Amino acid sequence: MGKEKVFVTKASMPPYEEYIEAIKPLWDSRWITNMGYYHKELEKKLKEYLDVPALSLMVNGHMALELVIQAFDFPEGAEIITTPFTFISTTHAIVRNRLEPVFCDVKASDGTIDETKIEGLITEKTAAILPVHVYGNVCNVEEIQRIADKYGLKVIYDAAHAFGVKYKGIGIGNFGDASVFSFHATKIYNTIEGGAAAFSDQKLYERLYNLKNFGIRGEDLVVSVGTNAKMNEFAAIMGLCNLKHTAENISRRKRCWELYKNNLEKTEGLLLFQENINVEKNYSYFPVLVNGSFHRDRDDLYSKLKENNIYPRKYFYPLTSDEKCFGDKYRKNDLKTARRLAAQVIVLPLYPDLEFDQVDRIIHTIKEM
Ligand SMILES: Cc1ncc(COP(=O)(O)O)c(C=O)c1O
Repeated sequence: MGKEKVFVTKASMPPYEEYIEAIKPLWDSRWITNMGYYHKELEKKLKEYLDVPALSLMVNGHMALELVIQAFDFPEGAEIITTPFTFISTTHAIVRNRLEPVFCDVKASDGTIDETKIEGLITEKTAAILPVHVYGNVCNVEEIQRIADKYGLKVIYDAAHAFGVKYKGIGIGNFGDASVFSFHATKIYNTIEGGAAAFSDQKLYERLYNLKNFGIRGEDLVVSVGTNAKMNEFAAIMGLCNLKHTAENISRRKRCWELYKNNLEKTEGLLLFQENINVEKNYSYFPVLVNGSFHRDRDDLYSKLKENNIYPRKYFYPLTSDEKCFGDKYRKNDLKTARRLAAQVIVLPLYPDLEFDQVDRIIHTIKEM
């Protein structure tokens, strides 16, 4: 069997001719950014696909998150309860808004925020809860909303991993006050770089529009201070093309995901996250927990796979709260479970073009240890 390199993911792209054909009109119109035709078209199509009341496209998922937080106008220094078991973007979006992340532990069962620990972290400065549907695993949205309502808090979901996920038949972008998606090249659906915020309050659409376009509302009119976080037309067209192939991509991912699951779920020393029967999955990641009590640990497995030209990722290690840029500032809370998951987790390669024999090779390498 070949030893070609297998990376954790591979960007999904439409057939070359399809994209080239689709971008041709831009050479006539020369309208290649600034909320052009394709930007509007993609906003409409994604609103339908994600089944959400309103959606604002952005240049990337991070800016969507940063601007959604900014749009709520929390007082400087307000506290946001969040998870450290995530990509650094989640935490940076809070910190860059001059707000204080308060880290809450996560559940061993699925890696999402432990809703039973949220109330204990609420103070008079708490303004919002910012949970992450990590790997597309859905947070306990009902309980989180109950807590938010009780204390008058906003809920902003980082749904970067949850494109197309449904909970009890409802599009994941319908929960909380806003949900943010990433369309980065590594995600199950991409616009090269891109992202969006979904929400129901139309006023938020106007506020985000101003924030992402310098507050410009007319040739001679700037109504508020804003930045530049617009998606360009080439990216929007990539999004329109990729959207046509997303269902097929998800079903191809599913086949590899199931092959992994059937072969690894009963392997001694490995644990998989629990599945939620109310969730329609998007098969975006295949995370595995390597139980250190067995004869291998995560780092050994990581090295062994790399020696075999298989490149998994330690998503998410270290916890964002432990990153060098924060020093010891955020290490104080009890994050026992999150720390254990970060030490045990490894994300295996998964993408639509991944071949069954490559999955077999990965499974075989793991089982050989
Ligand atoms: C959990 C999480 N939040 C936010 C982001 C930021 O998204 P983007 O890369 O599109 O800026 C990512 C991914 O990159 C992510 O994985």
